[in-house]
Amino acid sequence: EMSPIERAKYASARRAAEFVESGMKVGLGTGSTAAWMVKRLGERVREEGLKIQGVPTSSGTAALAREAGIEVTTLDEARWLDLTIDGADEFDSNLNLIKGGGGAHLQEKVVATASDQMIVIADAAKAVETLGAFPLPVEILAFGGQTTKALIEETLVGMDVLGRDSVLRMQGDAPFVTDEGNHILDLNLRRIGNARQLSLVLNQIPGVVENGLFLDICDTVVIGYGDGKTEIRD
Ligand code: A5P
Repeated sequence: EMSPIERAKYASARRAAEFVESGMKVGLGTGSTAAWMVKRLGERVREEGLKIQGVPTSSGTAALAREAGIEVTTLDEARWLDLTIDGADEFDSNLNLIKGGGGAHLQEKVVATASDQMIVIADAAKAVETLGAFPLPVEILAFGGQTTKALIEETLVGMDVLGRDSVLRMQGDAPFVTDEGNHILDLNLRRIGNARQLSLVLNQIPGVVENGLFLDICDTVVIGYGDGKTEIRD
């Protein structure tokens, strides 16, 4: 028996998977919601003979996609994608997002930006008025990580945010390491007043690789509810 949250994720993933058509090159997102979508696309490949090429956004999703029987290729092989379907940690009414709770936002942003369309799949609890309650993931170089952390916190003093402490993401006793070999700082901003400015300023810091704000990238959100219903926002 699925919990309401799981049923909501499943419903949104399943509905979004219907947007995929034969011949498409599809970016495959990362996370528990995206995992349902990958599974569903695998079913469609088996049951309907759907012909697609998938570009995974993480090593985890690559493994899931192969397991599901989806033909996997690289972004450079595909060059341009018709569609990316991915989860998110927060979305607002302009369809701007916070991503990276799973630590994959760097590859996710590269893939989504190379796609004609990005569809986000999320349970209704991820809808927010203002982004920032979810700590903003920032991928940083492991080299000089504490210096970069201090520089980020100093930079946040002049920004339109409510909080400015950050935490190095851990996995057990060691820093979490991304697919690209970097670390993640989670920024407790609580409220992001000017996401565009924040994103630009963060990415200008040399030790920062990429932040988890997705601005003007997402075209559609498929929202899932605990009763299995879905709603489309675009
Ligand atoms: C991965 O880095 C994230 O961007 C995920 O897409 C996000 O954390 C959503 O994950 P869930 O679907 O597991 O909530």
